[in-house]
Amino acid sequence: MSVLDALFQAQREMDGSLGFRCACRVGMCGTCAMYVNKIPRLACSTLVKNLKTEIVTVEPLPHYPIIKDVAVSLAPFFAQWRRAQSAFRPRNRDSQTLALIGKHSRFRQLAPTKRDCITCGACYAACSIAGMNAEYLGPAAINRAFLRILDPRDAAGADRLKILDRNLDGVWRCHTQFSCTAVCPRGIDLTDSILRIKRALIQPRRLLAV
Ligand code: SF4
Ligand code: FES
Repeated sequence: MSVLDALFQAQREMDGSLGFRCACRVGMCGTCAMYVNKIPRLACSTLVKNLKTEIVTVEPLPHYPIIKDVAVSLAPFFAQWRRAQSAFRPRNRDSQTLALIGKHSRFRQLAPTKRDCITCGACYAACSIAGMNAEYLGPAAINRAFLRILDPRDAAGADRLKILDRNLDGVWRCHTQFSCTAVCPRGIDLTDSILRIKRALIQPRRLLAV
């Protein structure tokens, strides 16, 4: 039984008004992230027996407005996603040919470990800096901006670096606590992305270094 199964059972047998969110039920959509035993997790991918606790506590994700019970609004998360200019801005909008990415390019090497975010919001909930400073862009938005900056087809790298360099809400707010990396259900090393951006801001040529 997953935590999500348990919630459905509780809804069926105890309280039909219980509010929670889910969609795919197989760990792909990110909709069911919630605080389970004080750690942000996907309810559909968390087996009750693996928690190894007598009582399982389920709460809404921190740092988000509550819609109902454990259902939260991800509006703050997506607001930061937009502020970090996460959308792709093509270098050559009118190109008639496919862009080629060299197999030894840094983008090609790093993208498989950085691109599979399912926008569950768990990293933002785990980040104590996001909790203290609502302006902070947060790990997922920074990671997505990092991917775009690495992408040789994208034209807005310099604009994004300026945003990430901002004192109040950029990468310098990160205290390298690794909380985001620890909870990401896709295993994305978000702290590494943030550190790479910091290094690149100090030494621009290091952006593509290991
Ligand atoms: S980076 Fe990981 S934890 Fe953060 S929103 Fe994406 S999938 Fe969720
Ligand atoms: S319901 Fe889609 S990830 Fe859990």
